[in-house]
Amino acid sequence: MKVLVIGGGGREHALVWKISQSSRVKSVFCIPGNGGISDIAECVDRNVNDVDGLAGFAKQERIDMVIVGPENPLAMGIVDRFEKDGIPIFGPRKIGAQIEASKVFAKELMDKYNIPTASFKVFRSFEEAGGYIDQINPPFVIKADGLCAGKGAYVIRNREEGRGILKDVMVNMIHGQAGERVIIEEFLPGVEASYLAFTDGKSVLPMLPSQDHKPLFDNDQGPNTGGMGAYTPIPFIDDRMENDINNSIMKRTIKALKSEGAHYRGVLYGGLMIMGDGKPYVIEFNARLGDPETQPILFKMESDIVPIFQACINEQLSESTTITWKEGVSVCIVLASRGYPEKTEKGMIIHGLNDVKGDKDIMVFHAGTKKVGNDFYTSGGRVLAVTAMGKTYSDAIKKAYEAVAQISFEGMQYRRDIGSKALSYMGSIG
Ligand code: AMP
Ligand code: GLY
Repeated sequence: MKVLVIGGGGREHALVWKISQSSRVKSVFCIPGNGGISDIAECVDRNVNDVDGLAGFAKQERIDMVIVGPENPLAMGIVDRFEKDGIPIFGPRKIGAQIEASKVFAKELMDKYNIPTASFKVFRSFEEAGGYIDQINPPFVIKADGLCAGKGAYVIRNREEGRGILKDVMVNMIHGQAGERVIIEEFLPGVEASYLAFTDGKSVLPMLPSQDHKPLFDNDQGPNTGGMGAYTPIPFIDDRMENDINNSIMKRTIKALKSEGAHYRGVLYGGLMIMGDGKPYVIEFNARLGDPETQPILFKMESDIVPIFQACINEQLSESTTITWKEGVSVCIVLASRGYPEKTEKGMIIHGLNDVKGDKDIMVFHAGTKKVGNDFYTSGGRVLAVTAMGKTYSDAIKKAYEAVAQISFEGMQYRRDIGSKALSYMGSIG
C-alpha cells in the first residue's frame, strides 16, 4: 500500500521510519517532510493546512492510508475532508479534535463526565477574570482556550503576574482568537506523564507511558518548549496506576466523546499529573501523537504499526489487541538551535551524523533539517531527536548522550538531565 504522512518534525520521521518497515507498505510519501525523512520517503513540499490541496494530492497519487502528525490540520477538519473523498485517514474528525483545540471544550467534557482534572472556571472578559484572581490564592494556572503551539498555559506565582498575563492574553491578544476565552485553574503539584493510546472510538489500546521534558533548561528551568526530550517507560507508573489511568481517564473520555456525538478515532494523548497519592489527573488532552514522545515510543515498538492504524480507521480494534515492545528503556534527547524557542537560527551545517550510523541501538530522528547535496543543515528550532535503547535507564541515557557527543552544529543546545527523574526514582527504590 501507499501511505502518506502529514507533518515534518521528529515525530513524523519516527512515523515514516516505523511505517516503512511494514511488509504491507510499498511506498511512503511525506508532506512536507524534512532532510532525514527525504532519505527514506518521497517528500512533497506543500502546506499542511491546505486540506483541500492535500486531498487532491492524495486522490491523484491513489494513497491508501493517511496518518496526520500535527494538531492544526486535525483542528481544521482534515479528517472530515478526506473521509468525504473516501480516503482512509487516521485521526479524529474536527469535532473530536476540539479536545485539544479548545481547552474549554476539554474541561467542560471532563467536568460533565467525572474525569479527574484540576478544578477550573471559564472567563470571557478580562474584568471578570481579573476580579476572580483577586479572590484566589496563587499558585494557579491561566490557560488560553485555543491552540497556541504549547505556549498558552501559564503557572502563576503572584497576582500581579497573573493580571499581566491576563492582559496579554485577553486584551493585547498575543495568541489572537485563542485568547478570547481563558481558563483559570487550580495548580496541581505532582509529576507529569504522557499517556498515549490508540482508539477506534470503542476500544482503547494504550502505548507505554512516557515522560516529556518541556522547559528549555536542566531541572525544568527556563521557558516552555515543544519538548526537549522524553523517555519510556516510566518506572513509577505501576500496573495498578495504569489501570486507573485507563479506566478513569482514557476509556471514560472516549465514551464521553461518543455521548457528545464525537466518534473519536486516532490517538488520544493524556497529559497527566500524577499526584503524591498516586492519583492521575488530566492537565490537558492532545488529539495526536506527542513530539518528542513518539520517537522513543516507536523506537521501542516491536509490533507492526500499520495494522494498528488500519484497525483504528476501520473500527476493528479489539480489547484483546496488544502491542509487543522491545525489552529495555528508550530515551530521546532533543538537539535544538540557538535562540529556540523564541527566535531560531537556521542554516548551520550538522556534523557527525555518519559517526552514529550503523549502531542498532541508536536512531537519530530529524526534525528541523534540510538536505543539500550530501550534507544536512539546520532549518528549525528543534533539529534532531537522538534516540537510544538500553537495558536499563542508566544504560539508555549513557548511550544517548554518547551519541549526542558525536553530533554538533553551531549554537546547538540541549538538556543534560533527560531521564534524571527515572534515575533518581530507581536510586530511591535501591
Ligand atoms: P498545557 O499546555 O496545558 O500542557 O500546560 C503546559 C505546562 O504547564 C504543563 O506541562 C505543566 O507543567 C503546567 N501546568 C498546566 N496546568 C497545570 C496545573 N493545573 N497544575 C500544575 N501545572 C500545570
Ligand atoms: N510533547 C508535547 C506535545 O507533543 O504536545
